[in-house]
Amino acid sequence: MNTWYWSGAEACGLWFHGFVMPSESDGFFGLSAPGLFDGRALRGGRKRLMKSIVVVGAQWGDEGKGKVVDYLAGSFDYIARCAGGHNAGHTVIFNGNRFVLQLIPCGILRPGKHAVIGSGVVVDPAALVGELDTLAKAGIDVTGRLHLATRAHLIFPYHRQMEKAAEAARGAAKIGTTSRGIGPAYEDKMARHGIRVGDLLDPPRFREKLARVISEKDAVCRATYGVPLDTAGLADQYLALAERLGPFIGDASDLINDALDAGHSVLFEGAQGTMLDIDFGTYPYVTSSNAISGGACTGLGVGPTRINAVAGVTKAYTTRVGSGPFPTEMPDLEATEVRDRGKEYGAVTGRPRRCGWLDLAVLRYAVRINGISSLVVTKLDVFDTQKEIQICTGYRYKGSPIKEMPAAAEDLAQVTPVYRTLPGWQSDTFGVKDMEKLPRAAVDYLKFISDFLDVEIGMISTGPDRDATIVCAGTELAKWI
Ligand code: IMP
Repeated sequence: MNTWYWSGAEACGLWFHGFVMPSESDGFFGLSAPGLFDGRALRGGRKRLMKSIVVVGAQWGDEGKGKVVDYLAGSFDYIARCAGGHNAGHTVIFNGNRFVLQLIPCGILRPGKHAVIGSGVVVDPAALVGELDTLAKAGIDVTGRLHLATRAHLIFPYHRQMEKAAEAARGAAKIGTTSRGIGPAYEDKMARHGIRVGDLLDPPRFREKLARVISEKDAVCRATYGVPLDTAGLADQYLALAERLGPFIGDASDLINDALDAGHSVLFEGAQGTMLDIDFGTYPYVTSSNAISGGACTGLGVGPTRINAVAGVTKAYTTRVGSGPFPTEMPDLEATEVRDRGKEYGAVTGRPRRCGWLDLAVLRYAVRINGISSLVVTKLDVFDTQKEIQICTGYRYKGSPIKEMPAAAEDLAQVTPVYRTLPGWQSDTFGVKDMEKLPRAAVDYLKFISDFLDVEIGMISTGPDRDATIVCAGTELAKWI
């Protein structure tokens, strides 16, 4: 059963079953030409019926958002990416085929669904065209369904070149980035000398902007890293790629707002995770965009009142790639078992992921920062062989318990996790689709998480396949599906 929410001043907080399309005749100022002193005249605005949800990573990325978004996408009309770039790697296994999508929202794999790349995303056109080729080879037609924001910023090869030089210069303090040029592209955006997707549609303007930026950057690169920028043939190469991308480029904010106005449903697909957020993550060991739910508003040009729910995705344990503090990281031997069972190798870079116990201090923080209304727990089956499971319920810092998440990475690196030990279930949960079929100890583990965080668990994933999923009956999340 779908639940559709009324949003805005009309009926904030109430919800109804069933969906009523807004009437075309309800003009912007509402119902039947109210008089000036009729209360309705001041209330303004037509009734907006919306179904929109943000799916966000609650940890350090790689929580399995790809599978969750793919599953939920069946119940939404538009699936929109709001931040990050081809540093993200969403893996979806469907009909025995494995798709790793880095830029295009995985909703594109479902016929008839619209996939939107928002203005908060940084786009490498060569990577995007590569993905279009992969989809075409798999027989997936994106015509009229893929939309690319004209305001999204472009990644150029010089961003990668500068990133590699910067990482090398950091030495042992390197961030361990994905080397995709993500950070430098966002730097340019914020420094106001970025070049945007829409610029590709006006070749003379594009050439002029690129020439200006190249001369600036070449000087910086020579002075800082002692190497020149490699930019030969760049403008021609990008304008050739633009021929492929042109039909998809448009105003993504208008598209999404119009879709919501027309009663269509929208799923905002987060990339990376809360602890990699540029503002609220383990800075500076973070990515360069807002990976939290608020990024949906800034990255797509939608107001916060247009978002109804936030699903936070967490693994049954924790992983991270790259450098930075990770309080519940397991010693090597334990990590190896989890890494092998969970196939914890980067979808984009192939790097082995660092593995650790579930950290409820991180999740409590994520629930707060994102306003998570439902949790989705993935990869429960990876713990099937554990005799006992440790779960972190908080930290001690310099001998005393602390309540808040330390803001400084240096402080987080010094905390000692406080663990509870819970019994493992030591039985097979791989592919289980019914809550009743989960072993008692697995249900107790999930209940512990939900009770501790005071948030419902709306969905559980027990394997990579689309149907290895438990939707928890009676939860708010289940009503969206
Ligand atoms: P960047 O996003 O390439 O600048 O990398 C910055 C940090 O974010 C590094 O630690 C990366 O490993 C991490 N990171 C970026 N994207 C992802 C992702 O999709 N999953 C997990 N970690 C990521």
